[in-house]
Amino acid sequence: MPKVSELLASVAARLSAAGLESGRLEARLLVGDATALSIEQLVAHPEREVDDGGVLARIERLTKRRLAREPMSQILGQREFWSLTFKVTPDVLTPRPDSETLVEAALAALVDRTRPWRILDLGVGSGCLLLSLLHELPNATGIGIDRSERALAVARANAETLGLAGRAVLQLGDWGQGIEEQFDLVVSNPPYIPSDDIETLDPEVSEHEPWLALDGGLDGLDAYRRLAGQLPVLAREGGWALLEVGVDQAQIVARLVRAAGFKIERIRADLGGIERVVVARRP
Ligand SMILES: C[S@@+](CC[C@H](N)C(=O)[O-])C[C@H]1O[C@@H](n2cnc3c(N)ncnc32)[C@H](O)[C@@H]1O
Repeated sequence: MPKVSELLASVAARLSAAGLESGRLEARLLVGDATALSIEQLVAHPEREVDDGGVLARIERLTKRRLAREPMSQILGQREFWSLTFKVTPDVLTPRPDSETLVEAALAALVDRTRPWRILDLGVGSGCLLLSLLHELPNATGIGIDRSERALAVARANAETLGLAGRAVLQLGDWGQGIEEQFDLVVSNPPYIPSDDIETLDPEVSEHEPWLALDGGLDGLDAYRRLAGQLPVLAREGGWALLEVGVDQAQIVARLVRAAGFKIERIRADLGGIERVVVARRP
């Protein structure tokens, strides 16, 4: 009967041999998921023997999925974002730490956290942006729009689990088309990868994440052009528009939003120092 330590070492070795950089950490997460033991329990009791054939088979299945470069978030079915746990499936983009920059910027803009802010999230995906904001702003309510009904099902499940379903409407749409209300805050993390670049990304992204969440058209900026045209209708006077952008896109997106009549308040960098969020305000 293999011990926990032996299972961890063997899975980590296979992942590392396949070129996966975080083999040891991922091995703990996969073995933890299969055995229903926490990382702390795995580390504290490496001598524990695993005698359940079903659990060993599950470890093997999960390891093979990771070796096939399926993202950890999809294998485990969840990902932490803003210290909250979000359900993840192949129908949504995995929430990225870089996007927490947008949440920080939004909270810096909406200074009074107690007001009944109205928030619109265009391309809501898993719901990570809208739901993190609603979690921080107890009287805020919002609408999340997505083109994908399957992504919306994930966002609705997340809203339910986080106890935010009563404050979030999640509906099918094409960006802001047809929305007549004006909001205090409009946020969006649209697809921004130039179409031809998608295949050059890691297989975890190019083969497993939804193209609708990645494909920004020829130059990666298609969605921003549409959004810039809609923002003046969607943000109230004095309202905010916060757009996440890809590498080297901030200045051009800022120009598009400025041309739509907004003042660029700042461009916020992520933890890696990359200009990540265009913070704009309607005068
Ligand atoms: C980059 S993902 C962002 C998801 C989530 N907001 C996040 O930050 O993780 C972009 C999202 O926009 C959605 N999307 C793509 N085209 C759209 C459109 N025309 N109208 C509305 N949503 C769209 C995709 O389905 C995807 O969920």
